[in-house]
Amino acid sequence: MSAGSAKSETTEFTNPNLEILFTGDEIDARIAEIGAQITAEYADKDLVLVGVLKGSCVFMADLMRAIDLPLTIDFMAVSSYKDGTKSTGDVEILKDLSSPIRDKDVIVVEDIVDTGLTLARLLDILGSRGARSIRLASFLDKPEPRIKKELKIDYTGFVIPNQFVVGYGLDAASRYRNLPFIAVVKDPSAV
Ligand code: IMP
Ligand code: MG
Repeated sequence: MSAGSAKSETTEFTNPNLEILFTGDEIDARIAEIGAQITAEYADKDLVLVGVLKGSCVFMADLMRAIDLPLTIDFMAVSSYKDGTKSTGDVEILKDLSSPIRDKDVIVVEDIVDTGLTLARLLDILGSRGARSIRLASFLDKPEPRIKKELKIDYTGFVIPNQFVVGYGLDAASRYRNLPFIAVVKDPSAV
């Protein structure tokens, strides 16, 4: 069948195994609110957004354009060791920051906080580097599986139930990061 010929053909974005949880418009509206809040709270600060690769890349791109202040961005990549599918809290830094964060006001930008083990470890590491302040922005908060109950998320896009979601930077087996919405994978064994 040639590309685009059959109207009934499903595509990556219309995959029937995906059930949309938040549309692109809902996401845009929420990010405008968070951006306005950060803009109001960081007016006299020296703001650095630190994105955690790869999952945060889409949120980072939208969030920084919703913050009407001078700011810089940086990225870290970490691998969290998993025991089966559960995160163990051991974190290896695959890519460190390009610039020091001493005396900076840092917002760590994450895609999702699940158990919180990865982020708690990352915040420990960043916490020893002399930043003036460190806060956390997570696009999604999945509180039910949380192990690090004390982890405070300062800016949250959406709170979600204990379901596996993809899109808007989040992946399942490296796929679906490019979906312009957040969806639940109905049958994870079919990914
Ligand atoms: P944790 O908070 O240490 O358990 O791990 C969080 C990381 O697990 C996130 O940064 C994601 O990479 C991944 N993760 C957790 N829940 C989901 C999900 O529902 N979809 C996609 N990735 C997820
Ligand atoms: Mg992540």
